[in-house]
Amino acid sequence: MVPMTLQEIAEAVGGALHDVSDPGAVVDRPGVIDSRLVEPGALFIALPGEHTDGHRFAEAAVRAGATGVLAARPVGVPAIVVPDVQDAMGALARAVLDRLKAPTVIGLTGSAGKTSTKDLLAQVLETMDTTVATPLSYNGEIGLPLTVFRADESTRLLVLEMGSRGAGHIKYLTGIVPPKVGLVLNVGTAHVGEFGGGKESIAVAKGELVEALPVDGLAVLNADDPYVMSMAPRTVAPVLTFGVQAGDVRAIDVELDAAGRPSFTLTYRGESAPVTLGLHGAHHVSNATAAAAVAIGLGASVQQAADALTGARQLTPGRMDVTERTDGVTVINDAFNANPDSMAVALSALTAMAGGGRRTVAVLGEMRELGEESEAHHAELGRLVARSGITDLVAVGDWEARLVHTWAVEGGVNGTLVPDRDTALDLLLTYLKPGDVVLVKGSHSVGLEDTAMRLAKPDAMGITC
Ligand SMILES: Nc1ncnc2c1ncn2[C@@H]1O[C@H](COP(=O)(O)OP(=O)(O)OP(=O)(O)O)[C@@H](O)[C@H]1O
Ligand SMILES: [Mg+2]
Repeated sequence: MVPMTLQEIAEAVGGALHDVSDPGAVVDRPGVIDSRLVEPGALFIALPGEHTDGHRFAEAAVRAGATGVLAARPVGVPAIVVPDVQDAMGALARAVLDRLKAPTVIGLTGSAGKTSTKDLLAQVLETMDTTVATPLSYNGEIGLPLTVFRADESTRLLVLEMGSRGAGHIKYLTGIVPPKVGLVLNVGTAHVGEFGGGKESIAVAKGELVEALPVDGLAVLNADDPYVMSMAPRTVAPVLTFGVQAGDVRAIDVELDAAGRPSFTLTYRGESAPVTLGLHGAHHVSNATAAAAVAIGLGASVQQAADALTGARQLTPGRMDVTERTDGVTVINDAFNANPDSMAVALSALTAMAGGGRRTVAVLGEMRELGEESEAHHAELGRLVARSGITDLVAVGDWEARLVHTWAVEGGVNGTLVPDRDTALDLLLTYLKPGDVVLVKGSHSVGLEDTAMRLAKPDAMGITC
């Protein structure tokens, strides 16, 4: 983080110093909300959490070396006290950004693939200049400031994943950190229940990103997605498009290898270069092409973008993480989250990886946040499992899982319904046979990530398969 004194931080956020003997004490390590991550010189930010209140850890944070605490009330250790800690984080992020040497800010949003694309993009941009990107999936009102705090004077490119659960969210984020480049990946069914009004209203909300761009900025839009393309008139920035079916920056001649890893030719204005991705699943073609379009828009050559994509690796766990077990079982951990679109791409990756000859076991948890469309989407998922030719299904959960199970079994799939992830794990430890390909996927709150990790490393649990 750019060095700032407690006094300067207090001024930037409109806070009052409490228990501070030295207002000139310097914060020069990133602000953090988890006291276990405090480094000497950091600012500890006390937020109320789901299970506990950050203020309880203020003292421990200062003991661990934090210069001070950003808090909603005095905490008995040096603190900047503000009426609203989250708002203050935004104000501080803005102040930090103003002190940086004007890095190019790239914001990206979409219903699915933000984190995957952000990771690809960061790996391409790193070949161009010093880059800081959102860690993991820190894409909201708290994650965005936390990302900005990690930047320093050497940062030239700042990549920010921006999530949206409704109108005004992205506007709030771009108000804190105005982007120069805005990438919109897709408009799908993620969080559709929270939006109300379906895809149109999701497009309205996600389009706030391109509305925030300046005339000398760049809007990077998905030519394959009409909802994304409908955002073009909402920006004053020039538009660069990407896609597989169409687009200025395009992926052509797409192929998948036996492990479901795509390769394709990246093209732009008559130039072309081959890309072979180390990531699994056809959906990454669109994500990679989007990342290439941003890099090309910022001056990379097609070859440079293609080479960086070929060298890129999976950075964030839980997204199509593939483990080949020693007993010949392949475990695909895509359990970080799920919605109808991402279920569809994951199922197609599962069948691609099985190559027709192996047993395919889909371990599917519920898709949450679908509102009143939930029933229809779960029934359709069951039908899709059957249509895709998946041999075995383990549906995990309550009535939604029952729907998936019923429709899949109706279509000829060997189905088992289990109530929770622990029962699923118990079953799978004996169910899986050498040669199986197993996909584990469900909404984050179903908790299947843990199941997937245990299945991927059964030896670590003392279990022999
Ligand atoms: N381009 C895409 N189209 C459809 N599904 C995708 C695409 N890219 C990734 N996915 C699927 O979506 C899941 C989530 O991917 P990722 O974490 O990259 O998305 P996200 O937009 O960051 O999600 P979140 O809203 O949870 O932050 C992946 O596991 C994958 O199955
Ligand atoms: Mg994400």
